[in-house]
Amino acid sequence: MQKLFSGVQPSGNLHIGNYLGAVKQWVTLQEQAESIFCVVDLHAITVPQDPEVLRKKTLEIAKIYLASGIDPTKSTLFVQSHVAAHSELAWILNTVARMGDLDKMTQYKDKSQKEGETTSIGLYDYPVLMAADILLYDTEVVPVGDDQLQHIELARTLARRFNERFGETFVVPEGRIQKEGARIMGLDDPTKKMSKSAPSEYNYISLTDDEATVLRKIKKAVTDSGTDITYSDDLSDAEASRPALRNLINIYSLFSRKTPGEIVEMYAGKGYGDFKVDLAAVISGFLTPFQERLASISDEEVKAILEAGAVKARAQAEAKMKQVRERVGLL
Ligand code: TYM
Repeated sequence: MQKLFSGVQPSGNLHIGNYLGAVKQWVTLQEQAESIFCVVDLHAITVPQDPEVLRKKTLEIAKIYLASGIDPTKSTLFVQSHVAAHSELAWILNTVARMGDLDKMTQYKDKSQKEGETTSIGLYDYPVLMAADILLYDTEVVPVGDDQLQHIELARTLARRFNERFGETFVVPEGRIQKEGARIMGLDDPTKKMSKSAPSEYNYISLTDDEATVLRKIKKAVTDSGTDITYSDDLSDAEASRPALRNLINIYSLFSRKTPGEIVEMYAGKGYGDFKVDLAAVISGFLTPFQERLASISDEEVKAILEAGAVKARAQAEAKMKQVRERVGLL
């Protein structure tokens, strides 16, 4: 079986972009691959977090995995900080990573621009910790949204460089993105991806939004000029591809299992009004039962699952670390 690893940070509000880009594909992939899903709390603290909120969010993300259909009898679920090897390997990989590698990372460049001189070293080093997450478990596939592909490229570089210097140790992993869900765009600005840290709540639909909120946000979503419902794959032509509508149709399609072509046909002769009301209903049609499942999972239940997951992950990670320490020359 192929080995698979992925994770989500317990920061901000998880939105439908996170679900459609990442978690949704994990649920299918766990049937075909030996899967590990991690709540990456050490990544979250690269920007300031309230300790109480962080603890709550960490449990909530794990509950979201379960409510989405991640099955703890098939997959391993755990919290990153519960397996100390992640930090240890990150340190060792720091000695293989170069400033030149990290200076290229666009996510760091974006985030550090906002924070300037107060940007933490952790934020700069974030992709190295992510490489450690992936490489510890001989991961072959990493299912993510497309904003993480550059980080996975770094994990590939570090694996190859380490192997060349110290002998074959790490598997070189591959990123996997879905064609349509890989980049869900902001509802208030279809030129930027939907983001947990967006300043306006009209940017995203949170996985905890109720029906009325979803409808309000979808009604406010920006649309392109033109009144009919069309969909074009020609992204080079901004006018014809109508990015705002394209994004809404992609969301509709991913939640309803209808193709964009079928959706366009359904709304022939109708306008944005009907389309938006139906889209909100389709999203809530997923969210309402999802939220019921989420509410039914107790803290105790999820803590027990995470503890069992950490025991499994620790055993695998420790075996890899033994090899790494020996290769590097640690006594
Ligand atoms: P994070 O927590 O920012 O996002 C979690 C997942 O959601 C995807 N995503 C999106 N997909 C589609 N459209 C969007 N608008 C959108 N926004 C976010 C992300 O691509 C991601 O898959 N660094 C990672 C967490 C991480 C990780 C790892 C992932 C740490 N270690 C090892 C894989 C393997 C992150 O910050 O994701």
